[in-house]
Amino acid sequence: MEPKVITLTVNGRKHQVALPPNITLLRALREYLHYTDVKNGCEKGDCGACTVILNGKAVNSCLVLAWQADGGEILTVSGLGTTSNPHPIQEAFADTGAAQCGFCTPGMVLAAKALLDENPHPTEEEIREAISGNLCRCTGYGPIVEAIQIAAERLAEGGQK
Ligand code: FES
Ligand code: FES
Repeated sequence: MEPKVITLTVNGRKHQVALPPNITLLRALREYLHYTDVKNGCEKGDCGACTVILNGKAVNSCLVLAWQADGGEILTVSGLGTTSNPHPIQEAFADTGAAQCGFCTPGMVLAAKALLDENPHPTEEEIREAISGNLCRCTGYGPIVEAIQIAAERLAEGGQK
């Protein structure tokens, strides 16, 4: 099949890109559009490092074909906040030491964002369920769960969303 031009809006910026049918959203974002904040861990749906928010839902971008995302709105971690202007979730991850090597962090933060958008006051069990598809080899998960609890509290107090 011939490449087709698709439109992906990433972090509010519209891109048109010609892609063959077998390119995943992960590869489109990293290799064609240079969003290297989206991490490639396993490319088979096991690790969650490639998590992005597509049309409001957290997805493993390695399991979505870019053509399927045509016309979609995508949020990557660099669209959520920056070092100088972090989102409360990113701030909470820094405060609790929830980012160690950092490889899982973009996906974890976006899984947390999707959870808190849908459920602003999650229980610990709901937090653990929401990040169950995101593997972390460093932290033992405790600081990540704590970071998401703190972020939920700060957002409820009126932090930037
Ligand atoms: S790279 Fe997509 S789940 Fe591991
Ligand atoms: S901080 Fe290293 S994998 Fe999670």
